[in-house]
Amino acid sequence: MERVTRRQVIGSVGLALGAGLVAGRVSPAFAKTEGPGREVPWPYRQLDPEVVAERGYHGYYKKHCMYGMFSAVVGELADRFGAPYQNFPMDMMEYGAGGVAGWATLCGALNGAAASIYLLSPSPKPVIDELFSWYTVSELPEYRPKNAKFDIVPSVAGSPLCHVSVGRWCEVSGFSSFSKQRSERCAWLTANVAKKTVELLNAQAQGKFAPVHPIPKEIQECRGCHGKGGEVENTRGKMSCTQCHQQEPEDHPVPFKKT
Ligand code: HEC
Ligand code: HEC
Repeated sequence: MERVTRRQVIGSVGLALGAGLVAGRVSPAFAKTEGPGREVPWPYRQLDPEVVAERGYHGYYKKHCMYGMFSAVVGELADRFGAPYQNFPMDMMEYGAGGVAGWATLCGALNGAAASIYLLSPSPKPVIDELFSWYTVSELPEYRPKNAKFDIVPSVAGSPLCHVSVGRWCEVSGFSSFSKQRSERCAWLTANVAKKTVELLNAQAQGKFAPVHPIPKEIQECRGCHGKGGEVENTRGKMSCTQCHQQEPEDHPVPFKKT
């Protein structure tokens, strides 16, 4: 049995009361939790995609892509509705910059989007699938922030990885990966991903969410053997397999179809 001191009890009651007062009223979603906002999802209220996009653009220049994306959505909720949104330690999201501390793994805008979707959606996975697939195949950025610093040419990321997304844009634009233009491109992209995320969350809140970017069947085929339950269950993932595995081994049972 865990021993709880009187001071701990008073402390947590004080916290709960404090958050309740800030919120004005305690939403039923929090009434049953031990502390306010401990359980996810938090209630989502529909937001204006353009307002959130603009926040994403400016947030990028404060603490980079993941912070820009996450603080666009959750910061807007915090400004409009207070607790629990305002209590989220948003600054931590700086970790996702440059695909997590510069490792160029998952695009920070996508990482921030996935975090906010998990925080706010009653059914997050299909929303993340749709967002990631859309990002992978679309010519982006397609949203131009109001006070853009430069013109930015769009490119197709081909992958949710920062490394591939940035590399392809550098190839299309001719700018280097540490240029001001590349930063601006990622700021636009952050705005664009924030806009799309809110559009998807709004659609889901209205009961109108309908994914239009399924995982391509070429990838599904590979997953059929290499994925969960397949005959050689030795991989996971939904990224394009043939982007990295360009040539099938000689004795491979099927020819590779490129995505
Ligand atoms: C019909 C089942 C099947 C499908 C579909 C399939 N594979 Fe395979 N794959 C295999 C088998 C079996 C092996 C050999 C496994 C072993 O010996 O470890 C293999 C081996 C591989 C290897 C490892 C080669 C090596 O060097 O050991 C890679 C990479 C691979 N497959 C990629 C893919 C990709 C990419 C796709 C989709 C384009 C795909 N596979 C579709 C059955 C499949
Ligand atoms: C971002 C690049 C990338 C993507 C995307 C990717 N792979 Fe790989 N994959 C690798 C690397 C790198 C290895 C490790 C190769 C090694 O150790 O020799 C690997 C290993 C594998 C292996 C084991 C090969 C072996 O040595 O036996 C299989 C099978 C495989 N991948 C299949 C897939 C399938 C199927 C997909 C799509 C769902 C996929 N991969 C997507 C990069 C990738």
